Amino acid sequence: MADDLGDKRGTNKPGPDVYEPLGMALPLSEQVQGLFLRRARSRIVQLLKETGARTVLDVCCGSGCLACRLTLEGLDVTGVDSSATMLTRAKEKHRAANFIQCDAAELSFSGRFDAAVISLALHEMDPGTREAVWRGMRRLVRVGGLLIALDFTIPKEKRWYTRLIGGLIDKDEQQMGSIHPPHYRNYEEFMGSGGLEGWLQSREQDRTTAHYFAGGNLGVFAVAA
Ligand SMILES: C[S@@+](CC[C@H](N)C(=O)[O-])C[C@H]1O[C@@H](n2cnc3c(N)ncnc32)[C@H](O)[C@@H]1O
Repeated sequence: MADDLGDKRGTNKPGPDVYEPLGMALPLSEQVQGLFLRRARSRIVQLLKETGARTVLDVCCGSGCLACRLTLEGLDVTGVDSSATMLTRAKEKHRAANFIQCDAAELSFSGRFDAAVISLALHEMDPGTREAVWRGMRRLVRVGGLLIALDFTIPKEKRWYTRLIGGLIDKDEQQMGSIHPPHYRNYEEFMGSGGLEGWLQSREQDRTTAHYFAGGNLGVFAVAA
């Protein structure tokens, strides 16, 4: 497995914990998100297994649900997140994975991973942070490894259930914006630029494979490193 944050551990200080007000709601929101993300997470597992990944960096791991799932699948997982609230919950639930508090825009490990995953976090970052996080993930994955992003996409077809799911996602993001306004502004900018597909395919082009879920509102994009 790639080494720990090493000499960066003391200097990479995360900012304010914007997820703190959600602490009490985490058990319920994990259940709801678990249903919503079940198929997308299964696809991530499948992609990792297909490429024979063993060590995985879960960037912005939150309360560790994906990290736990990957650990149960036998993978060696390191989760990083800036939120103490999220990491406290992650550590309570999943002792097998290794969780580290740091700013994902300043990732620094001395080794490399077989794969890096980022789930539902790119949309809430400002464009500069998003770029820095992705650059860091690319740097930390070995040649021949895999980068995987799960995030919101723009549905190609506008069916009623597609619009309904899109509306619920938007409401949820607005609520997060009422706690931390930049969150919703960044989400709006991300979606206005084409969601995950718009952001990633302009960067990675033909190295990317895409899988869609939730009526096309969610995408899992895999990029060969
Ligand atoms: C919506 S949660 C998603 C959590 C988890 N990946 C999942 O799919 O359930 C977004 C997470 O990204 C984290 N995050 C956002 N920006 C970050 C940054 N710059 N560095 C580290 N973590 C960050 C937040 O603390 C939060 O835990």
